[in-house]
Amino acid sequence: MSAILPPQQRIWWKQPVDKVELIWITIAFVWCMVMFFMMPYWHVYGGQNLSPETYRVKPELFQRATQEMVDKYTVRTETDEKIPVVAPPAGSDIFLIARLWSFWPILELKKDETYRLHLTAMDYQHGFSLQPENINVQILPGYEHVITIKPNRSGTYAIVCNEFCGIGHHKMVTRLYVKD
Ligand code: CUA
Repeated sequence: MSAILPPQQRIWWKQPVDKVELIWITIAFVWCMVMFFMMPYWHVYGGQNLSPETYRVKPELFQRATQEMVDKYTVRTETDEKIPVVAPPAGSDIFLIARLWSFWPILELKKDETYRLHLTAMDYQHGFSLQPENINVQILPGYEHVITIKPNRSGTYAIVCNEFCGIGHHKMVTRLYVKD
């Protein structure tokens, strides 16, 4: 049969399935199932995916909580925009706002201390990609994602928005400090 000429038999779709085709369908189906069950398996045993707690939140409330943290624990400002660098006490709730096209504020954490990191977006969907650790979280407006973190290495980390969010997306980066 050719794809250009009309089929020889008018009712061509009633022909029996060829053995080779059946084998391929079986292989493809089995592989689909393997990949499907790898998703929950890898989530539990892969140690890669974060399981953030997620709550609905009003942007104003999140903004207020962030502002309170900034007012209390700002230690200096950085960059031309004078972004506050905040060093909250160990064990506390810390907040990071994503919006077009920046993160606010800059966080300065202590190594081997635990924090509850709250993330939200003020306008559109943004991403939180922590490099070079390669941790990825989607940040959605109207929701706060809470992640319990315990930095185990000191240094300066980069936070990159990895969800395309418009014309300034490529500039949406910030840093995170972890001190000994
Ligand atoms: Cu925010 Cu891309």
